[in-house]
Amino acid sequence: MAGNAPGRVYLGMSDIAALLRQIPLFRELDEGDLAPLAQATHSVSFGTDETIVEIGEPGHALFLITEGTVRVVYPSRTGDYELARLGPGDFFGEMALLNDKPRSATVRAVDPVQALALEKDVFRKAVRDAPRLALHLLEALSLRMRGADAQISDLSEQTLHDPLTGLLNRRAFQERVAQEVDRTHRYGRTFSLILLDLDGFKGINDTLGHDVGDEVLRWVGRLLAEHTRASDSAFRIGGEEFAVLCTDTGRETARYAAERLVGILAEAHPPLDHPLEVTMSAGYATCPVNGSDFMEIYAVADRALLTAKENGRNRVEDPW
Ligand code: CMP
Repeated sequence: MAGNAPGRVYLGMSDIAALLRQIPLFRELDEGDLAPLAQATHSVSFGTDETIVEIGEPGHALFLITEGTVRVVYPSRTGDYELARLGPGDFFGEMALLNDKPRSATVRAVDPVQALALEKDVFRKAVRDAPRLALHLLEALSLRMRGADAQISDLSEQTLHDPLTGLLNRRAFQERVAQEVDRTHRYGRTFSLILLDLDGFKGINDTLGHDVGDEVLRWVGRLLAEHTRASDSAFRIGGEEFAVLCTDTGRETARYAAERLVGILAEAHPPLDHPLEVTMSAGYATCPVNGSDFMEIYAVADRALLTAKENGRNRVEDPW
């Protein structure tokens, strides 16, 4: 049996049938459909934190919760990721039974749980024989799928965005630039990469504190997001390092865009109590003229950015 051996609780057939009738999944079944299910069902109980179903194990039963709460989790190296919490009237453990694959997740009791365990073969037969049961099952599964879609979208938001500025992060940067390099080779397109770095940011952090530093970074993030074209993407790729990926953009337009961003920042004032001058230096590179893969393009733009720093900051330098 998956997880710990469940504590069986012996109940009479009519008690089990009465409990089954309270589970929404079975609510429209008539007595004829319910009787064989009640015969193949037994009542089980689990203690707090007990594992009821373990990911990867074969599935033998469907569980219908009559009391208590369970957590459905996806275990990972960094800990359990919670997929759902289920309570009285809910069921779990159907997936392994329906597709004959190992358990897709681990299910643990949050507090003492009472459940009904329904054997696999009887459950599968009931799904085949009772269209109303199959329909309720599909309704419940489609609700779960919507929940899972929303979770995936939230997660990808978190994994690709920088929480401080809301801009795309370094991981997204590497992915998107690699995609653009690929497009360039496949379809003969051109794109440019602008790298920007705040001037003297360490001084702001050291003299005014990290809260002010963070406020400046958020403000720069907003300005970059506002002043890039819809087809461009702005990233925060390091502490005070930013990047803008300009699709279908050649050298001259890239230079103009970089000058514009540096100019806008130099003229604007961060919304702080302290009068603070904030400037940026920038370098850029264009693919394929300055390089044909991510590393080359990045290195050329970075070299130009370093030159801008060496030449007095608050300026843009050309590649090479
Ligand atoms: P099964 O794969 O047999 O065992 C683990 C169970 O966790 C699975 O069936 C479902 O009942 C349940 N489960 C898996 N993913 C989710 C989810 N995203 N939301 C709710 N329940 C889930």
